[in-house]
Amino acid sequence: MHFRISANGCFTDEDVYLQPDAVSPFIKPGHVVMELGFGQGSNLHYLSRSHPDATFIGVDLQTLKRKDMPENVTTYTQDYSDLSRFEDNSVDVMYAFETIVHNTDKEKIYSEVHRVLKPGGVMIVYDYALRAPYDTFDDHIHMAIALISKGGAVAMIESLEELNAHYAHCGLTLEKWTDYTHGILPDLKRLERKAAKIMRRPCLAKLMFLLLPEQFVTNIILGYLGYDMNNAGIGYYCEWVLRKRC
Ligand SMILES: C[S@@+](CC[C@H](N)C(=O)[O-])C[C@H]1O[C@@H](n2cnc3c(N)ncnc32)[C@H](O)[C@@H]1O
Repeated sequence: MHFRISANGCFTDEDVYLQPDAVSPFIKPGHVVMELGFGQGSNLHYLSRSHPDATFIGVDLQTLKRKDMPENVTTYTQDYSDLSRFEDNSVDVMYAFETIVHNTDKEKIYSEVHRVLKPGGVMIVYDYALRAPYDTFDDHIHMAIALISKGGAVAMIESLEELNAHYAHCGLTLEKWTDYTHGILPDLKRLERKAAKIMRRPCLAKLMFLLLPEQFVTNIILGYLGYDMNNAGIGYYCEWVLRKRC
């Protein structure tokens, strides 16, 4: 599940709809829409029900578990770095929420996005970025980035500048960029509070770290550090609207 963007600084469950609601206006009847990295399928479910006249395709390494998808949705279990099963210029709208950061070769992905998008088609991305290139941060921040990356199974968090260069190299035009870092702080604070219940009790933390599987431990550490990393101006959480030229 993606981060909640809270408009007024207070976390609510409804905030989960901001990202799919931002994609919605781009979808017209008859459109082919593709989600990269659909996870548990909540965005696909929500958008396909709101747009019954559009066709939805989901691509994820993991097989979709939920069984209640509308008939206008087809999912594929595969790596989205290779979309060769889909024709050139065949998709109107693509979107990817908090997934591309899990991959190292971003240009391979964006080249495929460019190839399958129709001319004038749009790609909406929500993801993390560093405010400056990794090398410009000191060793403490490198350690925090490494811990956060491990907790989030993130391959490589790149800077805004690096990501924008990837889009340009792959022929995608940056139509709009929005910084939502402050919007996710209430959600990050919620996770930090949960993690702090363990991290601020050293004996309990040691015991739990001994007993829990590694993925849980790294997740607790991610929850503990995420708020400070974003609040301290090291990380960004952003929306990019990219367009394939006509
Ligand atoms: C953090 S989840 C995001 C879930 C979803 N986008 C959402 O908003 O709820 C990341 C998802 O991306 C998928 N993923 C990461 N890299 C992928 C790749 N190269 N090809 C296909 N799926 C990928 C993972 O399997 C995982 O389900």
